[in-house]
Amino acid sequence: MVNRTPNDNDKIEVTSSACSMHEVGDVYAGYADKDELIAFCNELLEAERAGARVTLESAHTANSGPLAALLKTIQRDEARWCAMLVRHLKVLGRIPSSKIGGFYEKAMAISELSERLVFLNRGQSWVVRKLREMLPRVRDYSLNHDLTEMLQSHEANIKLATEFSARAL
Ligand SMILES: [Fe+2]
Repeated sequence: MVNRTPNDNDKIEVTSSACSMHEVGDVYAGYADKDELIAFCNELLEAERAGARVTLESAHTANSGPLAALLKTIQRDEARWCAMLVRHLKVLGRIPSSKIGGFYEKAMAISELSERLVFLNRGQSWVVRKLREMLPRVRDYSLNHDLTEMLQSHEANIKLATEFSARAL
């Protein structure tokens, strides 16, 4: 321990605002900083936008019946998470990415809808993995709450798609 007296010539420089000091403390505690959260939300946004487009176009192809209904259900959720991520990116002070994830091209290259659904589930599982890794590091209550809902929704839709695929065999 170092004892300091008023005679010490040490200069204490205050170079950070209270806010960024708080953020530094968060990073030391293992929480993601703002830049990491922005990159994370944008990566998920691009993936969800790809998922929304794949399910929209696939539902049109399926036309009607249980597969079309399932795809429409997943599409509604994917669109919902896009809107949620856009909202949080704006709160974080960043213009949301307008890109569509590479998943779109890969999924649409699969012509058979049942195979595309299996591939879609793989993409959804990737999102689940990313969310499970990041969630313990998201300190902001509102973002943590919304990402938790997104995780649960993905887990539920993966289960629905897996059950559908098993019935179709
Ligand atoms: Fe998704």
